[in-house]
Amino acid sequence: MADYKLNVFHWHLTDDQGWRLDLRRFPELVKYGSVRSESAVHGCTGKPRDYRGNGQPYGPYFYTAADVREILDYAKARFVTVVPEIEIPGHVRALLAAHPEFACREGLSREPRTMNGVEDEVLCAGNDEAIRFMEQVYDEVCAIFPGTYVHIGGDECPKRRWRECLKCQARIRSLGLRDEDALQAWVTRHFTEYLSKKGRRAIGWDEVLAGDPGPETVVHSWRKQKYAVAAAEKGHDVVVSALMSTYFSVPQGVKDDPFTYMSPKRRCSLAMAYAFNPFEGMTDVAKGRVLGAECCLWSECVWNEYDLAFKLWPRAFAFAEAVWSAPASPRDFADFERRAAIERRRLISRVVNCAPLR
Ligand code: ACM
Ligand code: ZN
Repeated sequence: MADYKLNVFHWHLTDDQGWRLDLRRFPELVKYGSVRSESAVHGCTGKPRDYRGNGQPYGPYFYTAADVREILDYAKARFVTVVPEIEIPGHVRALLAAHPEFACREGLSREPRTMNGVEDEVLCAGNDEAIRFMEQVYDEVCAIFPGTYVHIGGDECPKRRWRECLKCQARIRSLGLRDEDALQAWVTRHFTEYLSKKGRRAIGWDEVLAGDPGPETVVHSWRKQKYAVAAAEKGHDVVVSALMSTYFSVPQGVKDDPFTYMSPKRRCSLAMAYAFNPFEGMTDVAKGRVLGAECCLWSECVWNEYDLAFKLWPRAFAFAEAVWSAPASPRDFADFERRAAIERRRLISRVVNCAPLR
């Protein structure tokens, strides 16, 4: 990362399929949340009818506070800041495996999700104890991670359970909220303010915009550029990713790629990565709100460091050049490819499994 001036490491530590951070106060989180019965096989789209599991138990895998310290020290020595992400209110199935009492309904299994895709079971936003629990989780996360920014997730939170839940509906009524999107905005506001009192800034994925959470939350756009533009225009600071050009968990499309993917038919070629422009469609005022940009390597199908390197490089060269070049400077992909080929040889000589350019 430091070689390419990628100076922030956003660490997605929790999801439906795993909880990867050991918290002293809540040992159940890794006891139940860091183990799953199997993983989805290559090409599972997340639709139940496509699901096939590999039958191999996975975990327990998690980081202790001491592991995190080691990584923070390593990162700091290379001028890289670490931003932890602890997701709410969606993508919490692994949390709910440990603490099913914080779901909207009873009877949840103690198993993290094995399928990809979006999970209906979410954190009960009407349960005061669930809110208090998450405050304590963020207290401990802030004690472990010293940086200013804490990512609180917010993407892909279906509202189905909240619509059926008496507690969530009671919260909506008592606060006079318009609907379930407004309930999510209340959650976002609550934790933005909570973290702000601790001197931290909350970041949420662009779905948090749906219910108008107030401008203090930093918005991390990931779907379409229009969300980055909308967030900036509403006065949020913004981090820009793009599903089509910065998601390196999507195949690059090179021949004989031996690795597995969640969406094997999709493509993010080197040229697509190089074309990324975090300022697209923004006025000068909006551009001023962009804190940075991010390429993502979602690791549900990353099984080792060779796999990881192949997915990351050379596309992250393209990302780094795209975000560190003056916006007005001309982009010459052929020239970039010539330089990338040299850089690729350098990585290969260091046994870093950089993929071919095309
Ligand atoms: C995301 O990729 N769901 C943020
Ligand atoms: Zn509920």
